[in-house]
Amino acid sequence: MTMPEQNARVALPTVDDTRAFGTRLAGVLRAGDLVILTGPLGAGKTALVQGIGAGLGVEGRIASPTFVIARVHPGPLPLVHVDAYRLTSLGEVDDLDLDFDANDVVTVVEWGHGLVEQLNDARLEIVLDRFADTDERVAQLVAHGDDWAERVARIG
Ligand SMILES: Nc1ncnc2c1ncn2[C@@H]1O[C@H](COP(=O)(O)OP(=O)(O)O)[C@@H](O)[C@H]1O
Ligand SMILES: [Mg+2]
Repeated sequence: MTMPEQNARVALPTVDDTRAFGTRLAGVLRAGDLVILTGPLGAGKTALVQGIGAGLGVEGRIASPTFVIARVHPGPLPLVHVDAYRLTSLGEVDDLDLDFDANDVVTVVEWGHGLVEQLNDARLEIVLDRFADTDERVAQLVAHGDDWAERVARIG
């Protein structure tokens, strides 16, 4: 297991801040990256992916539709958005037979913790927290391997 090298904590008072943070994050992303999003329902995982998609300039509406597990958003740097909520194994993503090579895209996985780490030793984990009766969210960034610590330092 790769140990976390550097953490950063980002306060996200409103949904616009969460989207803006996603767009800032997009600025350091490159092909082959894996980003894992963790946090309870309504924490803002999908909102964050919407910001990432805007930053990357990809096509298609980013949402968490009930029956879609993974969606490929074409663009200059394509985004693969996975919602692993209903998945119990990584094999189920393979079984979807999606037409992309992980080396050519940015892969962002909601609910991926404990499930998709084996896809890439180097990865950014983002843990989102929410608090009762407020809009405020907090993002905890955890860098694993490669140059993620340096990239987290740039965006955190
Ligand atoms: N600071 C915030 N960041 C993100 N979402 C927020 C924030 N404040 C309120 N919200 C609302 O919370 C909900 C987050 O939903 P969503 O992004 O789908 O969460 P998840 O994918 O984690 O289940 C949205 O309705 C959004 O408008
Ligand atoms: Mg979601």
